[in-house]
Amino acid sequence: MRTQVGIIGAGPAGLLLGRLLTRQGIDTVILEKRSADHVLGRIRAGVLDSATLEALREADCDQRMKSDGLFHDGFDIIANNNRFHIDLKGLTGQQVIVYGQTEVTRDLMDARNEDGAPTLYEAAAVNIEGIESGPVRITHEHEGSRKELVCDYVAGCDGFHGVAAKTIPATIRRTFERVYPFGWLGLFADVPPCSHELIYANHANGFALASMRSQTRSRYYIQCPIDTDPADWPDERVWDELAIRLGPQAAASMKRGPSLEKSVAPLRSFVAEPMRHGRLFLAGDAAHIVPPTGAKGLNLASADALVLARALTALIREGSGTLADTYSADRLEHIWKVERFSWWMTTMLHRFSGQDDFNARIQLAELDYLRGSRAEQTSLAENYVGLPF
Ligand code: APR
Ligand code: PHB
Repeated sequence: MRTQVGIIGAGPAGLLLGRLLTRQGIDTVILEKRSADHVLGRIRAGVLDSATLEALREADCDQRMKSDGLFHDGFDIIANNNRFHIDLKGLTGQQVIVYGQTEVTRDLMDARNEDGAPTLYEAAAVNIEGIESGPVRITHEHEGSRKELVCDYVAGCDGFHGVAAKTIPATIRRTFERVYPFGWLGLFADVPPCSHELIYANHANGFALASMRSQTRSRYYIQCPIDTDPADWPDERVWDELAIRLGPQAAASMKRGPSLEKSVAPLRSFVAEPMRHGRLFLAGDAAHIVPPTGAKGLNLASADALVLARALTALIREGSGTLADTYSADRLEHIWKVERFSWWMTTMLHRFSGQDDFNARIQLAELDYLRGSRAEQTSLAENYVGLPF
């Protein structure tokens, strides 16, 4: 099989890139290790910032997001038993949209089917050759045999555990990482949310977050030790802990119900540089991970796809390599600012075991400063709605 751009991974990064390139008349084939149902069954992020809005608009896949998504003007923070509002709209003129990553993925898969562009599911890339010389050969396992996809360029959109990033020679690749000493226990339930906007809480027992997917579906998280077994957390125990951490006002309006899903996710900051080597380009979690506290993982993947689609279009249609040459540096400039924001939100809102008294007081002062300062709230808000890139 032959194509112009071979895309590894059918998460949001790969699907968005595929759709944007198809609209420019460029042929792509997506190889996805899992089945379509498995990809759609994963519960992932839920807050879309300006990057995802722009990418979905350019992809002409924003109709359902605009009709079914919830437009939020802000969110609440609870710290030191004080609840205060971050007025995103008042501070920046922009809103965020609550619309599940699963729904974004479904919309992009539907569009790709309508385009008639091929996606091979249960096709795992195992090896990539020719990224320095071309043509690129992606060896993959599909339907019980080894096959080859030959392409001019390859986009590694295969997530944190993918194979593409490791194709960049170790002498060139640099990685930067911070692993946090806790995880998030997430619970998903078909109950109305406890508040019309999100609530982020810093409580002595640890961080908590009240989020949602719709008016009838809630998503909650609590900070937990990284080795927590969800089996030790029956639903009632999670609800009780949420009620404590989110405080009496939220607890009073919290509707409890059976969990549809309950799992523990680790928190990590990670960047791999560069994001391009020869004919290989990386996008999304393959190149960077942020802890979810700033709600940025999906949005960074969208920004990558948008910028990469423009670069590949210029390269393939006009023979101009300028955007492709600056792709890595341009993206990393934005990505590191988002890494900083996600690290800052995580550090400010979580309890760190063994934290010394000095750090504990600094954290309190940070939250108190945020509560009282329009300048600091504006800084948070402009990052949350999405920095320009
Ligand atoms: N061959 C083919 N597909 C692969 C391979 C491989 N060797 N390895 C991984 N994949 C697939 C995975 O099965 C997954 O569907 O690549 C896809 C990567 O998708 P995501 O993990 O969703 O990553 P990305 O598209 O970059 O989206 C980033 O997703 O996890 C969230 O926090 C993250 O919100 C962010 C967004
Ligand atoms: C979510 O709804 O899953 C969610 C929302 C905001 C975050 C992280 C996750 O910061």
